This record gives sequence, structure tokens and C-alpha cells, in this order.
Amino acid sequence: MAAARAHWGSRLGFILAAAGSAVGLGNVWGFPYITARNGGGLFVIIYLACVAAVGLPIMMAEIFIGRTAQNSPVGAVRSLSRPRSPWMGLGWLSVVAAFLILSFYGVVAGWSMYYVWLSITEGFAGMTPEEIGAAFGAAHANEGLNALWHIIFMSLTISIVIAGIKQGIELWSRILMPTLFGLLLVLLVYGMTTSGFGEGFSYVFGFHTDKFRATSTLDALGQAFFSLSLGMGALITYGSYLRPDEDIVSTSIIVSAVDTMVALLAALVIFPILFTAGLGEEDSVGLAFISIPIAFSQMPGGAALAPIFFTLLTFAALTSAISLLEVATAYFIDERGWTRTKATMVTGGGIMILGIPSALSGGAGLFGTRLKEATEWWGGGQTWFDIMFNISYNWMLPLGGLGIATFVAWRVGDAAREQGFKTGTKLGKLYWGWVQLLRFIVPIAVILVLLNAIGVFNAGGDGG
Ligand code: TRP
Repeated sequence: MAAARAHWGSRLGFILAAAGSAVGLGNVWGFPYITARNGGGLFVIIYLACVAAVGLPIMMAEIFIGRTAQNSPVGAVRSLSRPRSPWMGLGWLSVVAAFLILSFYGVVAGWSMYYVWLSITEGFAGMTPEEIGAAFGAAHANEGLNALWHIIFMSLTISIVIAGIKQGIELWSRILMPTLFGLLLVLLVYGMTTSGFGEGFSYVFGFHTDKFRATSTLDALGQAFFSLSLGMGALITYGSYLRPDEDIVSTSIIVSAVDTMVALLAALVIFPILFTAGLGEEDSVGLAFISIPIAFSQMPGGAALAPIFFTLLTFAALTSAISLLEVATAYFIDERGWTRTKATMVTGGGIMILGIPSALSGGAGLFGTRLKEATEWWGGGQTWFDIMFNISYNWMLPLGGLGIATFVAWRVGDAAREQGFKTGTKLGKLYWGWVQLLRFIVPIAVILVLLNAIGVFNAGGDGG
């Protein structure tokens, strides 16, 4: 067989890598606008409950599977059940989901990188809000530009994953994550000194229940899944590089807490800046790429802050992208015996190609406007990008999370599960509660999300 399995150099290295996977575009770009769209306060509380009662138990289950089996998802599920078990479908789902998610994620990450470049070379100062909005519209529709930055971003991701666990993923997580925290802190301090801080704060944490909808709870749960990187084996894979006696419980708590803190702080950075510039009511996807540049164009020091913001966004995306690529790569290394170099090049290259249609989705062509028109019957039309996003976000992650919870709660033997949970931790008392959450709360919550995805809860139709 191949060489001995690679392991993280230290517990902190694992925590930074797992937090790097979790903290991503979902936190800095997604969470603030989703929170705004759902009316703040109450949504935030429900989000926290979803993280604690559904996300955290699944995170522990994923890391448990990986650490116990010392194998990536396909092999891990096999060794905890039996060869050719139907549960292995969970492992296959992971590999497919890694391809799909990273293919569109790489496109948005590419925009972030492009905006780092743009904010340094041209800056936004001196541009009117209309010009900034038009600039994003033009960039979004520029097929070649999108493809180019997607390819640049994917090349960077490949170059990290190819260097391996310790020398690649862990090393870069140790560099990028502390830098990200530092940049966030700079922006937070700045945000707190702006005149819009109070208004921004109350926009995020105040109870604007008029915006709270029946489906807000399900938005919160879906967002928790995505933000914590759950449901497709990313944390099974990262867990498989932990030594078998490492504490799962406290590391999961730390990773979830860091992820949640970054999401809340990102919202607290973004809204004060927007309110100060008189743009507070923004609650859509244009928030990061339009409203933020507009705000910075009007603020003292904005020329320096815009590159900081987009660098933060890029670093967040990069450490998430490497975890997605590692899932696909680890499969070919562990199951097919490929070298890391070959596995990374082939999977990374494949994802690069699969991402091209997503990169072209802002344009008028086959994967953009034309596909959207052809799929009018489905949720008002979807581009290739939208389809990739919806299949993975609405279907694969919830199904994967449900599968992982069910597998650990009902299929893995009681003794192995209990011993695995309690190994290396002082928090063994939480075992009983963890199993109950996996057995009952997680399935109920996920089934509600899936019913929501097929439209059961918005029969009346809603605009969002
Ligand atoms: N959690 C990341 C974010 O918030 C995205 C991500 C990375 C992810 N790995 C994942 C999402 C695995 C789902 C599954 O942007």
C-alpha cells in the first residue's frame, strides 16, 4: 500500500484548516445579506440555534467518521459499515459535490480576486455609484474576464493542495487565517468609528420582524450547513488527517464558534460602512461587489480599505476552496492509489473546466441568458451557475448531512461511537445529547429544509 497517512502537524493546524474551510464567501458575502433580507435579530438567534443544535452535531459526526476511519469519505464509510454498503453512496456524493460546489465557488472567488486587483490598480474613488454598479454589471457579463479569474483562482488553489497536508493546506491556513482575522479587525475598528455604526448595528441585531418570513428559519438552517462546510465530507476528509486520539468535541466547538463569530463580525463591519455612505438598505448579492465599493469610494481612507476588504474575501474563499479540492483529491489518492500530484492536477483541472460554464453564466450565451430563458418554468429561469448552486446548496448538502447524521446515529455500533466520541476529550458528558440530536432533531430539521426546497412552504410564491 501507499505511504503512511499524512497527519496535521498540530491541533492548532487542524483547527485553522477546518476554520479556514468553514470561513468563506458564505460568511463574508452571504451571511450579511441573508441576515438583512430576513430582518436581523430574530433571524440571528435562529441561526445560532441551528448552528448549535444541527450544525455542531453534524460537524462532530463528520470529524468522528474521518478520524476513526483514517480514510477519506468513500473508504471511511466502507470501513465503518461494510464493503459495497449502500451507505457508500454518501462517499460518492461527497466527491460529486466537491466538483459541483467548487466549480461555481471558484467563479465568485475569481470576482474577489479581480476586485483586489481593480481596487489597487484603479481604485473606486472618483467613480459615481452608477459607474461602480455598471462596472460590476459589465464584469459579470464579461465571459472571458470571468473565465480568466476563475482559472487564476483555481491555479492558486491547486498549487496549495498539491503541496500536501502539512506543507500545503496547513502551512497556508496558518498564514491566511491569522491574516484574515487581522484584516477583519482593522475593518471592524474602522466600522466602529463610523457615524453609521449604531444604525448598522441595529439593522443586523434589531428585530425587524416585518422582514421575517415563514421560510426564514429554513434559510438559517441552509446557511448554517453551507457556512460550516457540512454535508459533503469536507470535514470527514480533514478529520481523517487527525491522529486517532485527538479530541473531536472541543475542536468542533471551537471551529463552529470561530465560523459564527466571523459571520457576525462581517455583518457588523459591512452594515455600518454602508449606512455611513447612505446605502444601508441593501440586502442582495450585489452587496459585496457593488455597495461596498460605493461606500469606500466616498469614505476617507476608502482607497486603502477596499483592497483590505477584497483581500479578506479572497483569503476566506481560498481556504474554503482548498478544502473542497482536497475532498476530490483525497478520493483519487486513497481509493485509486494516485500520487497527490496527479490527483490534484486531474481533479483541479476537471473543476477548472466544469467551472467555465459557470463563468460564462453572466453573459447572454448558451449558459447564461439563453439557458435562463429555456428554464423559465423552473423558479423563473436559471443560468448554469444557478443550477450548480441550487443542486448543491439545496439538495446535496442537506441530503449529505442527513445521511451522515443517520449513519453515525443508527448504523455505527454503539460501543465504537461512544468510545470514539469520548476519546481524548474532557467533554464526554455531551455524548448522550449528541446522539439524541443526531437521531431526532437533525432529521426533522433537514426534512423541513428539503420540503422547503421543493416549494412546500411558499405555495403562495414569494419574491425572494
Ligand atoms: N463554508 C464555506 C463558506 O462559507 C464554503 C465551503 C467550503 C463548503 N467547503 C465546503 C460548503 C463544504 C459546503 C461544504 O463559504
